[in-house]
Amino acid sequence: MDLDLVVRNARIATAGDVFDADIGVRDGRIVLLGEGLPAGAREIDAAGRTVTPGGIDSHCHLDQPMPPPARMADDFESGTRSAACGGTTTVIPFAAQAKGQSLREAVDDYHRRAGNKAAIDYAFHLIVSDPAPSVAQEELPALISEGYTSFKIYMTYDDLKLDDRQVLDVLSVAREHGAMTMVHAENADCIGWLTERLLAAGKRAPRYHAASRPMLVEREATHRAIALSELVDVPILIVHVSGREAVEQIRWARGRGLPILAETCPQYLFLSAEDLGIDDDYQGARCVCSPPPRDRANQQVIWDGLRDDLFTVLSSDHAPFNYDDPAGKRPEGEEVSFDRIPNGIPGLETRMPLLYSEGVLEGRISVNRFVALTATHAARLYGLYPRKGTIAVGSDADLVIWDERAVTIENARLHHAVDYTPYEGRTLRAWPGMTLSRGEVVWDGEKFTGRAGHGRFLRCDLPSLLPGGGPVGT
Ligand code: URP
Ligand code: ZN
Ligand code: ZN
Repeated sequence: MDLDLVVRNARIATAGDVFDADIGVRDGRIVLLGEGLPAGAREIDAAGRTVTPGGIDSHCHLDQPMPPPARMADDFESGTRSAACGGTTTVIPFAAQAKGQSLREAVDDYHRRAGNKAAIDYAFHLIVSDPAPSVAQEELPALISEGYTSFKIYMTYDDLKLDDRQVLDVLSVAREHGAMTMVHAENADCIGWLTERLLAAGKRAPRYHAASRPMLVEREATHRAIALSELVDVPILIVHVSGREAVEQIRWARGRGLPILAETCPQYLFLSAEDLGIDDDYQGARCVCSPPPRDRANQQVIWDGLRDDLFTVLSSDHAPFNYDDPAGKRPEGEEVSFDRIPNGIPGLETRMPLLYSEGVLEGRISVNRFVALTATHAARLYGLYPRKGTIAVGSDADLVIWDERAVTIENARLHHAVDYTPYEGRTLRAWPGMTLSRGEVVWDGEKFTGRAGHGRFLRCDLPSLLPGGGPVGT
C-alpha cells in the first residue's frame, strides 16, 4: 500500500489505551496502524515520544460579532493558527444570533467570516439568543439536520440571556431533534443587583468583577438549568464550571441519574480571583472572564472533577480581547468600571500544553483521561467521532507528537493576535513538538507550517455521549 506519511515508533495514547505502533497515512487519513509499516513518501520518527489525537477545542470564540466598541482580536486565521501551534486540530466556535436576527442569517454571516481563513478543521455551534417561534420551530430543526447539532444558551448577559420559559422552549427542540444544549449558568438578576451596589459604593476596579459574580450565582443557575433539563427530560452540558458549588449541583444531579454533562477550562485550574487584582490595579482586567476564577481550594475541586469523570470536556473558552486596545479591555482607551470590561481571556494555544504538563506529567490525570478530555469526548459529544478525536484506522490523521522539555510561556512566542496571555512566565514541562492536521504538518515545534484555507468546515452528526463517557444507548 502506498503511504503518504508514516509516523514511526509512536507511543500512541487514546482515551482507552496506550500502545506502540507506526501510523500509516494516506490522503489525510490513518490507513494502517502496526509495527514495521512499509516506507512512506514522508517519514517522521516519533521514537520515545507520546502521540495523542489532535485536540478539539469545543468552546472558543473567534471573530464573533460584539456590541461596540468591543471587537475580538482573533479571526479564523489567527485563531486557528494559534490553536494548531498548541496541538489543537479542530475548533468549534459559535455562530451567534443577535436578538431579532434570523439564526440562518447568523450562520451565513459566520461562514463568510470563516471564509477561506482556517488552518485547521472547524464546525459551528449556534448561540440561540432569540427563540421566536419561527426560530425554534423552523430554523433550528433545519439547521440541526444540516450539521449544526449543538447550541449554547445564556442565563446571563442582557444581549443574549433567555428567561426560563425560553430555555424550556430551546430544550424541547433539543430533545425532539437529538441536539446538545450548552448552558452558560449564572443568575443575571443577582449579578445586576450586586453590580449596582458595588458601583454605588465606588467599587469599580476589575477585581470587583469577581465580587459581582460570586459562586452562589453560578450555583443557583446551575441548579435551575438542571431542573429545567429534568423537566424536559433532555441532556445538557453546563459550560465553564468554575468551582465547588456548581460541581456539587452536578454531582447531585448525576446521583439522581440525570444526564448532566459538564465542561471546565484551564482558567479554573491555573488562575484565581487574585489575578483580577489584589488592589485596584487595572491590569487585572486581563483576567476578567465569566464565571470568574475562584481560589486555590476551588482549583483542587476542578482537578478532582477532571480525574473522576465529573467533567466531560476541557475547553479553552478562548474569548480574545486585547488589553491595550479601545476595542478590548480598555473600551474607548479608558480604564472603565468592571462591568464594562469585555469578558473573556485567550487560551487556545495554551490549553493542551497546560493540561498535558500539569495534569499528565505531574501525575494528576492519566494520559488516557487527557485524551478523553481534550479530544475524544468532544468528538462524541458534537458528532465528529470517529473521524475526529481518536487514533484509529479510518480517522483523520490529526496528531500531536509531544516534546517533554521545559517551555516558558511568553506571549511574544504565541501565535494568536491578542497582546497578552494570562499565563505569561509559567514554565511547563511539555509542548507539542509537532501538530498534524489531516497528515499535514501545521506546527513543527518551532514555527507554524500550515496555511490559511487548509481547514475544512465539518458538519456534525448528532451527539453520542452520556455522562461518564459512555455512548448513548448503552
Ligand atoms: O468570559 C467569558 N467566558 N467570555 C466568553 C463568553 C462566554 O460566556 O463563554
Ligand atoms: Zn459562557
Ligand atoms: Zn465562551
